Amino acid sequence: MFDSGVGGLTVLHECLVSLPEEDFVYLGDTAMFPYGTRDPVELRERIRGIAELLLGGGGAKLLVIACNTATSIGEDVAREASAEHGVEVVPVVEPQAEIAAAITDNGRVGVLATPNTVESGAYRRSLEEQGRSLEVTEVEAPDLAPFIQTGSPFDEGVLEMARAYCAPLKRADVDTLILGCTHYPLVAPMLQRILGRDVRLVSGGHAVAAAVQRTLLRQGLAREPDGEGAYRFLCTGDVDSFRELGTRFLQMPLGKVERIEVQDAADYP
Ligand code: DGL
Repeated sequence: MFDSGVGGLTVLHECLVSLPEEDFVYLGDTAMFPYGTRDPVELRERIRGIAELLLGGGGAKLLVIACNTATSIGEDVAREASAEHGVEVVPVVEPQAEIAAAITDNGRVGVLATPNTVESGAYRRSLEEQGRSLEVTEVEAPDLAPFIQTGSPFDEGVLEMARAYCAPLKRADVDTLILGCTHYPLVAPMLQRILGRDVRLVSGGHAVAAAVQRTLLRQGLAREPDGEGAYRFLCTGDVDSFRELGTRFLQMPLGKVERIEVQDAADYP
């Protein structure tokens, strides 16, 4: 599983809870955070390198893209690299779009995401493919993930930012909001309060954990559901800040975190 940083730990959290018997390796590409405003061409190369590292060196049986921006910009690249290793990919966009389309009553779905994710059109396309006529309102939130990552996710600054990003969603009367970035579950209570309790928030974690389970079962790769698997962490930036921030996102102890360069699978520890 990989992400641009610690946000994907909200997805890992759900996977650890739903599939405790499986082993997980999580790579946080903190040296390249944020993906949301980075050059897509550079990101696609990076995603290829990470997929190679986890599948070639790491020998993973499934690749989970726990990052909305990476999915939107480079799902195809990750799939290409994974196909060479005979491994399937679980991305984060499509499972959320499926859920949102299934639960909206008024057909008005909001998407809050990074600029790269919105500009890629990935959610819009995925929602259009769900076979329902939906009115989609997308809001780019360039500052929200970096703010959550660097500051306190519970201060007045984030609240003001959340209010501003929610304004167009309220005007559009969405009854369902896709949290299109893995950082946003940390501010879900704020968003829920601003939007009102009847608006349903669809985060990536549950949707991805269910997709991982289905994929492993379909491929005959699921472990017997007894016992607890192992989980461990790689990051490309500072190890101490990954551990400190990561604990908040994972809501479980992180244990050992290793620093790694994304260049070639031979670097895999
Ligand atoms: N994991 C990223 C995402 O879900 C966080 C934001 C970023 O890296 O810009 O889009």
